[in-house]
Amino acid sequence: VQLNAPFWGEHGLAYLIETTEGRLLFDTGQSGTVLLHNLQVLGIDPSTIDALALSHAHYDHTGGLPALLEHLRPGIPLYANADLFRERFSRRGDRTASIGLALTRAELAARLTLKLDTSPQQIFAGVWTTGQITARPEFQGGSDALLMRQGDGLAADTYQDDMALVLQDGDSLMLLCGCCHAGLLNTLAHVQQAFHAPVSRIAGGLHLASVSADDLHHCGHTLAGLPALQCLQPGHCTGEAAVRALAQVLGPERVGRAPAATVIELGS
Ligand SMILES: [Fe+2]
Ligand SMILES: [Fe+2]
Repeated sequence: VQLNAPFWGEHGLAYLIETTEGRLLFDTGQSGTVLLHNLQVLGIDPSTIDALALSHAHYDHTGGLPALLEHLRPGIPLYANADLFRERFSRRGDRTASIGLALTRAELAARLTLKLDTSPQQIFAGVWTTGQITARPEFQGGSDALLMRQGDGLAADTYQDDMALVLQDGDSLMLLCGCCHAGLLNTLAHVQQAFHAPVSRIAGGLHLASVSADDLHHCGHTLAGLPALQCLQPGHCTGEAAVRALAQVLGPERVGRAPAATVIELGS
């Protein structure tokens, strides 16, 4: 797939976050090839990346890590949830495929400084992880095909590893999601409780394609009720029909897209 040439796209997600304190890479895409190509187009040497954060274990967010590791400064921090290292699978018919992190905890710890915590972690001034989304009274962004290792067997994935980033945007916050398997409304409620500032922007993968029509309707009206929400830039696994449905409720002027090479500027 080629989008916004000379940038490349793929089914995967990676956001480079630039702050006055340093560069953070949030997720690494699927292949590594696309990530390294796009960094090169931007003129960014991967050795200038100061920190990594991973939204969750799935291959379309962590698959670029093996290729990227060769180029990173040794010892930079990696922010994630410890459940990242649990094996993940997808099942279609009688075929089960491994879709989790391709590196072991020991392999990563040998190259990076692991910062694994269920609480929100500050990465730079104005940049935090959400920490674990513990309360999930609303719908999750899941699929019956997604499984995890539990003991000797496989069970439905509970996505305990799923986290997002929170970025300061002036007096308000931006929520940047990987896949948002924990559920968009659960994640938003968690952010509002943990960060004490309104959310003005939401971007990234919102995983709404498999959500029921009722839940999607409820989601749209909950978003419409957020007084500070200015802009939604969903991408990745959000689902086209869901994006159109949200645009109908929120107004098309508030709902954009975020293909490869999208730049989002935030207030300080
Ligand atoms: Fe995912
Ligand atoms: Fe994803």
